[in-house]
Parts: sequence; structure tokens; C-alpha cells
Amino acid sequence: MTAKSPKAFYTRLAAGAPAPEMERSSRLERMIHFVPPHLDKVRAKVADTLGQVDVLLANLEDAIPFDQKAAARAGAIAIGRDNAFGETAYWVRVNALNSPWHLDDLLEIVPALRERLDVLMAPKIEGPWDIHYLDQLLACLESKHAIKKPIQLHAILETAQGVALVEEIAAASPRMQGISLGPADLAASRGMKTTRVGGGHPDYAVLADGEGEAPRARVQQDLWHYTLAKMVDACMAAGIKAFYGPFGDIADSAACEQQFKNAYLMGCAGAWSLHPSQIEIAKRVFSPDPAEVAMALRILAAMPDGGGVAMLDGKMQDDATWKQAKGIVDLARKVAAKDLAMAARYGF
Ligand code: GLV
Ligand code: MG
Repeated sequence: MTAKSPKAFYTRLAAGAPAPEMERSSRLERMIHFVPPHLDKVRAKVADTLGQVDVLLANLEDAIPFDQKAAARAGAIAIGRDNAFGETAYWVRVNALNSPWHLDDLLEIVPALRERLDVLMAPKIEGPWDIHYLDQLLACLESKHAIKKPIQLHAILETAQGVALVEEIAAASPRMQGISLGPADLAASRGMKTTRVGGGHPDYAVLADGEGEAPRARVQQDLWHYTLAKMVDACMAAGIKAFYGPFGDIADSAACEQQFKNAYLMGCAGAWSLHPSQIEIAKRVFSPDPAEVAMALRILAAMPDGGGVAMLDGKMQDDATWKQAKGIVDLARKVAAKDLAMAARYGF
């Protein structure tokens, strides 16, 4: 047997650590909003941003200059200390496990933020061994500092090795909250011939068959479809959440919205927002569309006990569409609980 025994997941990994949590995360996490915590003006704006986002994340990893790594760590601690988060979750992305900053990130962030840290995002996760290491280290830190609530883990899928082992990563620990696709590092790791942070590429396309000199239809394809689908299945099989990661072309809001929408339709719970303009895009995309909610409510009403078959507008409904509809209505209720305007649009 190479996998951990199921009973191991119910066992504390350090004496005095809190018991592992077995419940699935049910929070609304439509956008994970990234902030660079070493910047004074960014920290000063956090209080205003908190009301607009489901998750605020202090980024310590890529995009933080090497000489600002310690300042970013201190800034992340200050953000957690100085703000009332209310319903908003607080996440920190630490530096990669093989970087010179990783250990200090954990040793300083965990005792300082304690129960205020909901999720630790870990980049460049290669396999279940990385999650086992973090699981054990977090248990030791929780025990040492008498932290009452287990800190959850979120892995970024951004290496070819990680993609090959995504199912094992997703199931490696009860701390696993979810996985995000990291298209920028993944492109580098795979040797993709691009220079982008997520999104499509005009040269990744399919040509229709042609005849003679007539112009041939050409359709751009989604570079991320395979990986996203593989990741969503791995996450759902393990009972955790899947997220699309960053979309770097901030000015191209239409393409960002389309990439997020594809992820939403395929089963993702949210995406990263790298700029305030992307918060609204993620909020719109990852909140169910009112027309879909109305249809889902009709399906639930037509099959009150979830069984049998019904016809609505000529379309067959059965147990499977009932389950899809229930998923949409449950998500809409979560959105409505947070957003009165959306509650009104859903008619709740
Ligand atoms: C995110 O970290 C990415 O590399 O896309
Ligand atoms: Mg990355």
C-alpha cells in the first residue's frame, strides 16, 4: 500500500494539534483577491476591499520583489491583525517549498495569524509528499502555539509533475480545501511556447477541411481545457473545490470573463482576481445566472421528491437534472444570503 490508510486522516499529526476537520468547505469563494502586502497603500485599502470580496489573499510569492519578501510577510501579519474580516476569508500564499523564504513564512505567519488564517495557499505542489510535509509541519505549529482550528491547505497546480499526480494531491490530507490552476508557471514547466498568464492563444486553433482556394473556417481552442477538466475531476472525487487561477491580461475583461465562465460551467467554485476590475467579473460569473436559477427552481418544483421523470418545455428532467438544479439553487441561496440585490433577482 502506497497511500495513507483512511484511518490516518482521522488522527492528529501532532499531540495537542486540533482534530482534523472532515467537513467539506461550504463557504462562498467566488474570487480569491490577491494583494501585495508589502505596499503601505495596499494595506490601507484592505478595509474597503473586504466588503467586496469572498476571499482576500496576501501574496508572499511570485510578483513580490526578492528584497521585499520580509516586508510582505510582515504586511500579511499586519493585515490579519488590523482588520475585522467578518464573512470574508483570509488566505496567505506562501513561497514555494524549495525557496529560501518558505520556512520563515510558515514559522512567522502561522503563530502570528493563528485562527485568523483560514487557508494557506501552497504554490508549485509536485505530489502528495509536498502536502504530507505541510500537513505535518502545520500540525506541529498548531500544537506548539495551541491553535484551535486546523489551517486548511490550497495547492496550486502549476507543474507538469503536479498535473500528473493531481488526484493524489487532492486526496493527500483532510486539510485540502481546494486546488487552483496556475497557468503561468504551468506553461513554463511544460515548455509551452507562450508568454502569457492564462487565457487563450490565437495560434492554438483548428482549421475546417478546405476545398480549393475557398477560405477555411478557423476556430481558436482552449489551451487549458484538458488540465482544468482533469483538475476538476480530481477535486470533486476528493470532495474539495476547484478554482481557475490568474488571468493576466487585465485590460481584456471580455476574454477574462469567458475564461472564468468556462471554469464555472465545468465545476469551478471561483477564480483569482488580480485587479479590482476582476472582482466584479468573478462575482458575476461565479454567481448563478438568475434565468438558470429560475429554470432550476422549475425542475425542483416539477420533481418534489427528486425522483421519476418530468417534461419541461419539451426537455426531459430526471434524477440527474434534479441534482444539477439543486446544485445551482444551493449556490444561489448562498449568494443571496450575502447579497440582497442578487436575492431579489433570484426571487428569494
Ligand atoms: C500562478 O501562480 C500561475 O503561475 O499561474
Ligand atoms: Mg505561479
